[in-house]
Amino acid sequence: MITVAGVSKEFDGKRKVSVLQNIELQIERGEMVSLVGPSGSGKSTLLNLIGGLDRPTGGEIRIDGQATSAVSDDELTRLRREKIGFIFQEALAKFWSSDIHSDSRGASFGC
Ligand SMILES: Nc1ncnc2c1ncn2[C@@H]1O[C@H](COP(=O)(O)OP(=O)(O)OP(=O)(O)O)[C@@H](O)[C@H]1O
Ligand SMILES: [Mg+2]
Repeated sequence: MITVAGVSKEFDGKRKVSVLQNIELQIERGEMVSLVGPSGSGKSTLLNLIGGLDRPTGGEIRIDGQATSAVSDDELTRLRREKIGFIFQEALAKFWSSDIHSDSRGASFGC
């Protein structure tokens, strides 16, 4: 299960950008969830946090009960390797327009 508890994310640049404020979200094992919102609303930022590529500035993310803020970089890497998979949208777009996909229609896929 993925738990997002009171998560905030700010980016510090020339000026401070507050992208996520107090996000609450729970995703059960096997559940399918779409994250929808306008460009710049913070979808990629949230996915980067859930995927352990970045750390929140506030709140906590737990993967099967383990808080990502409480683990070392090495442990975070292990968590990512064992529990999380990324398919980047460029790769997915190539897949859908590829011959492999055309040839495999009718087969079943888990993406
Ligand atoms: N590393 C960063 N440093 C500073 N600002 C950032 C950084 N990453 C994202 N942002 C800002 O955070 C906001 C949210 O960006 P994000 O990429 O999460 O949006 P998005 O919902 O994924 O947009 P899109 O639909 O275009 O992919 C934007 O204003 C963006 O400029
Ligand atoms: Mg994005």
